[in-house]
Amino acid sequence: MNRRTFFVLLGVPGAGKGTQAKLLEERLGRPQVSTGDIFRYNLKNKTALGLLAQSYMDKGELVPDEVTIRMVEDRLQQADAAQGAILDGFPRNLIQAEALGRMTAPYGGISLVPLIHISDEEAMLRITGRRVCRSCGAVYHTAFNPPKAEGVCDLDGGELYQRDDDKPETVRNRLYVYYKQTSPLIGYYFAKGLLVELDGKRSIESVQSELIGLLAEKEVAQ
Ligand code: AP5
Ligand code: MG
Repeated sequence: MNRRTFFVLLGVPGAGKGTQAKLLEERLGRPQVSTGDIFRYNLKNKTALGLLAQSYMDKGELVPDEVTIRMVEDRLQQADAAQGAILDGFPRNLIQAEALGRMTAPYGGISLVPLIHISDEEAMLRITGRRVCRSCGAVYHTAFNPPKAEGVCDLDGGELYQRDDDKPETVRNRLYVYYKQTSPLIGYYFAKGLLVELDGKRSIESVQSELIGLLAEKEVAQ
């Protein structure tokens, strides 16, 4: 069997899934697969998928499963995922979790599901101060992780913008959707022995080093 390692990052909107996945991508040599980023890329390029996704994202609702699942299936078949991937924002409900289980089964299944914990108050603070690079997608925070020059990406000089779905009323609905549809995945992965819980209210570096330790341990064990 061609064994691959798939990690699923779980946590409320703003928990730091994207921030951590980007750092892990470089260190583990596995791509970050963020469904939110893929939708935003499509939206920027005005594809049919982007326009469809926008109507759901603007309300903080989930994009329909069949569209999202097919998109992840395609993404995991690309060459850079030949050793596995770090999944960020997928799966988000039990139907998607079952689909991911089927997609990864031929390669040994999912290796680990780290759940990053923060409070809802912290999530609101983080999301309302978030800024994203329009060209490379790097994530900053006006207070907690500011760029060197205001409004400009440190990595490629791109313009930093605020996501449309980061308005307080949309964020509240995203949190509601998380508790209703995504949080059942905590029990689902716990029962499979895959869940590990981390305190996310620490520095980005401290969360990252704990994650690296956990994931590296899994890779060695396989
Ligand atoms: P998505 O893009 O996945 O958004 P989300 O889950 O709401 O998560 P966020 O990106 O808001 O948070 P994050 O955990 O990545 O935090 P980040 O690292 O940015 O999804 C958007 C939409 O797309 C959905 O609402 C839905 O419509 C659609 N969609 C996506 N996937 C889907 C799916 N599978 N099915 C159906 N629909 C789907 O960090 C947040 C901020 O905090 C940043 O400013 C960062 O700098 C800062 N920060 C991070 N870590 C720390 C730290 N340790 N200390 C201080 N600040 C920190
Ligand atoms: Mg994200």
